[in-house]
Amino acid sequence: MTEPTITTLEDAAAVSSAVAQHVAQAIQAKPKLTLGLATGNTFRAIYADLVALYEKGGFSLAQAKAFNLDEYVGLAADHPASFATYMKQHLFNHVDFAPGAARLPEVAGGDIAAACAAYEQAIATAGGIDLQLLGIGRNGHIGFNEPGSPFDSRTREVALTASTQSANAVDFPPGEAVPPTAATMGIGSILDAREIVLVVTGAHKAEALHRAFHADPSIDCPASALHRHHNVHVFCDKAAAGL
Ligand code: F6R
Repeated sequence: MTEPTITTLEDAAAVSSAVAQHVAQAIQAKPKLTLGLATGNTFRAIYADLVALYEKGGFSLAQAKAFNLDEYVGLAADHPASFATYMKQHLFNHVDFAPGAARLPEVAGGDIAAACAAYEQAIATAGGIDLQLLGIGRNGHIGFNEPGSPFDSRTREVALTASTQSANAVDFPPGEAVPPTAATMGIGSILDAREIVLVVTGAHKAEALHRAFHADPSIDCPASALHRHHNVHVFCDKAAAGL
């Protein structure tokens, strides 16, 4: 078991600023960095801080690549609740990634298994992920790897739990159901990244963070697979670190 580096800061704003600076420094050190990106509430402020650093002239993403963790199956990329739309709104429209260099699983339709395999291949062709950003679900999920996901899983279509569907329902237009499945990088795909940054804020995530690193690794808590990685940096606020 390898211990993560843990940075505990006062509040979510301090965490987001520190994570944005960490990412900016990684890009400055390696302009051809390949990033693994996440969506969700936690990352809105982080991307806003990263865009602010970019606008100050801190770095360029012109040579970088990015692969998002996950996307809903069956949603068009321009659907308001797709992760593609989220990424455009919060990051891609504001920075200088080259066209096609920042990708998500393309699973609006067609052969989903083939699209997942192609995504794994694209990550491998890019030389693997240098820096993977991760959030955590209240149930310990990482990406959309829900409890029960094998630690060696790869990019694939997964069923979303009722709790994940209800947590994400706010992003959908009123009356529109959250898709029952998504494509997600697997836990094995995530563990292949050379560095992993896990961001955890809020008292509602304290139990998940505690289970991830203070209980025996188990597929009941997907984030506990991070024990197997030698280069994990956790950024959390005091509320999340409460347990
Ligand atoms: C999003 C993702 C999810 C979220 C997690 C936390 O791409 O992969 O695992 O990181 O659900 O979401 P928030 O930040 O909304 O609490």
